[in-house]
Amino acid sequence: MSQRNSRAIQEIKQRLNMADLVRRYVELRRVGPRWMAPCPFHQETKPSFSVNEEEGFFYCFGCQASGDLFDFYGRINGLNFRETLEQLAEETGVQLDAAALSRDDRQREEALSRRRQILRMHELAARHFAHNLTRSQGRECREYMEHRGISPAMIERFGLGWSLREWQALNTALRRAGFTDALGVEAALLGASDKDGQIRTYDRFRGRLMFPIRALGGQVVAFGGRIIGNEDEAKYINSSDSPIYRKGEHLYGLAQARRAISQRNAIMLTEGYMDVVTLHQFGYEQAVGVLGTALTPDQIKRLSGFAANLELLFDGDRAGRKAALRACEMLLPRGLACKVILFPEGEDIDSLLRGHGEEAFEALRTDAPDGLTFCVQTLRGMAPRDAVDWAKNFLRQLTLPELMSRYASLLATGLGLTEEELRGRFAADRTRVRNAPQTQGAAPADARNDTRDRQIMTFAVRYPHSLERLREAGGHLALEAFWAKTLWNKLESRDPETIALELDEKEKRFWILCRAESAPLDNEEGELAALCRMLETSRRAKAPFAAALQQNAADPEADGMYLHALQQTLNERKRTHTLHQREKTDGEH
Ligand code: GTP
Ligand code: MN
Repeated sequence: MSQRNSRAIQEIKQRLNMADLVRRYVELRRVGPRWMAPCPFHQETKPSFSVNEEEGFFYCFGCQASGDLFDFYGRINGLNFRETLEQLAEETGVQLDAAALSRDDRQREEALSRRRQILRMHELAARHFAHNLTRSQGRECREYMEHRGISPAMIERFGLGWSLREWQALNTALRRAGFTDALGVEAALLGASDKDGQIRTYDRFRGRLMFPIRALGGQVVAFGGRIIGNEDEAKYINSSDSPIYRKGEHLYGLAQARRAISQRNAIMLTEGYMDVVTLHQFGYEQAVGVLGTALTPDQIKRLSGFAANLELLFDGDRAGRKAALRACEMLLPRGLACKVILFPEGEDIDSLLRGHGEEAFEALRTDAPDGLTFCVQTLRGMAPRDAVDWAKNFLRQLTLPELMSRYASLLATGLGLTEEELRGRFAADRTRVRNAPQTQGAAPADARNDTRDRQIMTFAVRYPHSLERLREAGGHLALEAFWAKTLWNKLESRDPETIALELDEKEKRFWILCRAESAPLDNEEGELAALCRMLETSRRAKAPFAAALQQNAADPEADGMYLHALQQTLNERKRTHTLHQREKTDGEH
């Protein structure tokens, strides 16, 4: 963003009131210092969407959507940043410098327009496949679906379709609509072969029952296709990654399930396309599918915004158990509750619901163990060493103290260890982790350090004018994670008024979270004092001198550490002094 336009951005923000802008789209109600409303970005009835009028940002406690004036206006109107800027500039009468829209901007523009085109191609393809189903060539697929018991309502709900047994059907339709072959290949809808130096494109999906994969907003972003006869081919093929689709980011059926998920505050997670369709048909409209990969952190993030209770449906075989264990390992530390439903050998949702009836499925649901109980059961069947390793690794991921005490004791009991034994092994391991070299940008292995970084940075963001005092207290020296150090440097070197513009997405989210969620900004001294106590404790634990001196003397890093330690001690004295002074003056009025 050019100098000129970043000024324009500031000016627009000054002229437009955030709450007034939001009020054009949703009804805001005053709750304490904030304005609240049902979130316009996800389906809900209770108000989780909050607007901070003074600071000019919004935040949804439900789906974690967040941002400033521009984010809100762009998102709700489906505009990109440039369009948003242009419209709001026009509305407020702020002058934009067209020439100053840098080349970066234009490149971003082009990429966006390519994405838009690829989205349109998917929309067209979905219509094309659905239409094929109604034609005479679609008959075999109609019969297959009937044979599987898929109802017309589900065909409609999921937009199921049929790709013809031809090489050029979709390709031709795309060309007619004016899309280039190259874009069709980039969209992963077409394949390309090189024959004697001549590139030829062809339909990737042929003779398959088509399942459109939709993003949360409902747009089709990819496809899965199933064979329907006994062809000698992969049972399913899926779209490969494209500018609008990344494997492991989406969940099959989430767009359709979203409403039921928030209404029931429950999610059913299963493995396959067909399973999702069948579950919906039987009224389990909270069902979504993980799409042939293991559950990913992206998917969990997506789900956790909607409901905190999950039912995991897996095959009862070894692979299914393993996948379920892995899923629990990812869900539980995030404070999500889950139950694990394993199908009897040889059965799946289809055979269960259609063959044995809903009662059979309901019985499995009722008897299903909760996530941790399932983990303990599974660990008991593993080699003791592997089980203990798993438990240690699991506990290491827990950042919420209340989970730690509960899970540590449950796991210990389950493994026949005392909690001290398990925690002891865990603690010994932790020291090793701490002394291991840290890689830049990697997720911090040590949860405690991560919490400390967060505490420090939360204060820094909440009271940016007190950064200097926090520095005196050694706050910046205690930071360990790359993200925290980067954010600190930005806070220190930028103008507090325009800082929001300089933050990347992750930083912005953290910044907003600190300001949206936390207590009123009226206990700065108390918070600072608490932080200082914490810093002191962790400094003692780290014994900086000893650690620094133990380092190899020839190591230039060691000198740096020694100097840091020295500086910390000096600052410490200064800080204690300043605090005493402050406490005195505080006491006087
Ligand atoms: P039906 O067998 O028709 O009931 O479909 P299903 O969805 O129940 O399939 P299944 O239980 O065999 O597999 C579960 C999921 O794994 C599927 O929905 C796919 O996402 C994925 N999958 C299965 N087979 C293949 C394959 O051959 N290739 C790929 N890429 N994915 C597959
Ligand atoms: Mn199946």
